[in-house]
Amino acid sequence: MTVLEAVLGDITKVAVDGIVNAANSGLLGGGGVDGAIHRAAGPGLLAECRDIARRLGGCPAGEAVVSAGYNLPCKKVIHTVGPVWRGGGAGEPERLGSCYRKSLLLAREEGLETVAFPNISTGVYGYPKDLAAETAVRAVKAALPEVPEITRVVFVCFDMENYRLYQNLLENR
Ligand code: APR
Repeated sequence: MTVLEAVLGDITKVAVDGIVNAANSGLLGGGGVDGAIHRAAGPGLLAECRDIARRLGGCPAGEAVVSAGYNLPCKKVIHTVGPVWRGGGAGEPERLGSCYRKSLLLAREEGLETVAFPNISTGVYGYPKDLAAETAVRAVKAALPEVPEITRVVFVCFDMENYRLYQNLLENR
């Protein structure tokens, strides 16, 4: 049984096995949660991400790669790249859902049991928060049968609007 919960706060301070980063395809850091995670992790994270980017040629939207957690309280960071919102008709929901599913599958491969997600694509990438929250919760619930080892999924909201959206979605099971 996997517990799903929403919290209001800073994902870099959440003590879980793995936190998910809303990265860009270049994997070399940025603003928003990507910037916060790199700042909290320290320079080792960028060095490893540079190596991953060199080996894999970056990370396409909807996919995920894993790194160590360095100075963060988590064991691993799963870097996923959300879709840029272009009105909803360019496959954004499918790609966003894939971020959540691929991140959970990767967490399972890494032996992680607890995972925290930010509200992927709802900042710089402009995805409407209500649509993103619906897609995120639906995609996580749909993926749970594939990841029975994962005992807890935390949606870490940085603003009250996202927090209320996730609380409502998780209460109406
Ligand atoms: N903890 C949790 N959530 C956070 C934090 C934090 N410390 N900082 C920001 N957020 C939230 C934002 O408020 C937003 O709700 O993360 C969500 C995702 O916003 P962005 O970080 O802007 O990510 P995204 O919209 O997916 O855009 C990704 O932004 O930072 C760059 O390199 C990144 O190019 C990529 C793009």
